[in-house]
Amino acid sequence: MKKRDTMISVILGSQWGDEAKGKLTDLYAANADIVGRFQGGNNAGHTIVVGDEVFKLRLLPSGIIQGKDIVLGNGMVIDPSILLKELTQLKSRNLSIGNIAISERAHLIMPYHKQEDAILEELKGKYKAGTTMNGIGPCYSDKVSRLGIRFIDLINERSFLEKLDKIYSLKKRYFAGLGHKIEISKEDIIQTYKEHAKIFGKYVVDTSVLINEANAAGKNILLEGAQGTHLDIDHGIYPFNTSSNTVCGGACTGAGVAPHKIGKVVGVVKAYTTRVGTGPVPTELFDDYGKHMAKKGHEFGTVTGRPRRCGWEDLMLVKYAHMLNDFDGIFITKLDVLCDLDKLKVCVGYEVDGAPVRHFPASMDILARCKPVYKEFEGFDFDCSKILKEGFDAFPESAKVYLKFIESELGVPLYGVSIGPKRSETIILKYIF
Ligand code: GDP
Ligand code: IMO
Ligand code: MG
Repeated sequence: MKKRDTMISVILGSQWGDEAKGKLTDLYAANADIVGRFQGGNNAGHTIVVGDEVFKLRLLPSGIIQGKDIVLGNGMVIDPSILLKELTQLKSRNLSIGNIAISERAHLIMPYHKQEDAILEELKGKYKAGTTMNGIGPCYSDKVSRLGIRFIDLINERSFLEKLDKIYSLKKRYFAGLGHKIEISKEDIIQTYKEHAKIFGKYVVDTSVLINEANAAGKNILLEGAQGTHLDIDHGIYPFNTSSNTVCGGACTGAGVAPHKIGKVVGVVKAYTTRVGTGPVPTELFDDYGKHMAKKGHEFGTVTGRPRRCGWEDLMLVKYAHMLNDFDGIFITKLDVLCDLDKLKVCVGYEVDGAPVRHFPASMDILARCKPVYKEFEGFDFDCSKILKEGFDAFPESAKVYLKFIESELGVPLYGVSIGPKRSETIILKYIF
């Protein structure tokens, strides 16, 4: 079915997060009017490098660096103290900041959510996901149980106090059952959140109306995914995934837009695989190739600083992500990290006990038993400044073979290649606006 020529574009991670979504959102934001987030919270860590300046964003959409209007959508879970810190830090950096809108329907991460995250991780034993400990899962659980507190409640004191009163007493009983006490008193929560209400009240609006009206007025809207497709609550590596819908459909529910209003969907594909957290990673490397990726790619979590597990590119993972998101184009990132290796491998299939596996499995027991089937490639090396000056054609033939193989296996056009962290260290082959 042909997609309508509309202006809401979406940038999504195709793997396990940290594909460089922040960098690409910042790049494509140049021609956008509004940039929004639609899921997740400060479990995200998105890095943007402009010249010598490094920006690390956790809640604010990456378009804020380009001075665009930004939206924190209804699908997000927002810790107001982190948002305040992030905004204060950015304002001190001499940026011109556009309009900020926070959805009335976005849920508040409460202090007890963070404590609950830590308690549950501890109790889950081998099923723990290695969360970022930011209260993401417990906040989404409360949303689904209809025990959440939303921004619309934050700005209505009566509603906030009534809901908190009820929820706090329920949480107290729940925590006691797990052998714990809530660390923060209700009175302290009230005091802090009253301050937040004063600060954020002016930003709280119906962001679905804002986005749909802007779309009708012909504005360019860009939605920035957080986490990656394989961390999706439905489609990801359950139970080692996150708690939101990170796939394209999540952009509709999490920003309040109809599916046919989504125009271009860009999949961000890191040139190799990384994972921060627990669970099976079929192409994980424990040898010098993996060490090379970790060192050269600075593969440490933006939020937690934890080392990321590294491995060869896994097309079983990326193909499944393409099936779920129907990418219009892919952007391959961090290709420079693979320079200087004598050979490269790409996983083109899995086998269990010698039998091929048709698609990415739902069972973690099966995934743990999957043996990657590899296709080997010649290594490459290139001088980034020469590529940036002369363009795509200046890549060595072996690098082109690697890129073209990924493109043709997925059957999705290559929209560009990133060869360094800086905004300028990018070869853009196709613009989305
Ligand atoms: P995100 O969560 O998808 O936005 O990605 P992160 O920002 O967490 O992780 C990507 C990391 O790689 C950041 O430190 C970026 O500055 C860096 N980066 C982005 N693109 C490139 C690239 O093409 N080459 C290299 N070497 N680093 C990159
Ligand atoms: P960005 O947007 C990589 C992982 C955590 C953990 C699991 C659940 O920067 O790509 P959570 O705190 O969400 O309950 O943790 O998901 N995780 C990420 N890994 N990049 C992220 O975000 C992530 N956000 C969550 O490590 O395994
Ligand atoms: Mg990240």
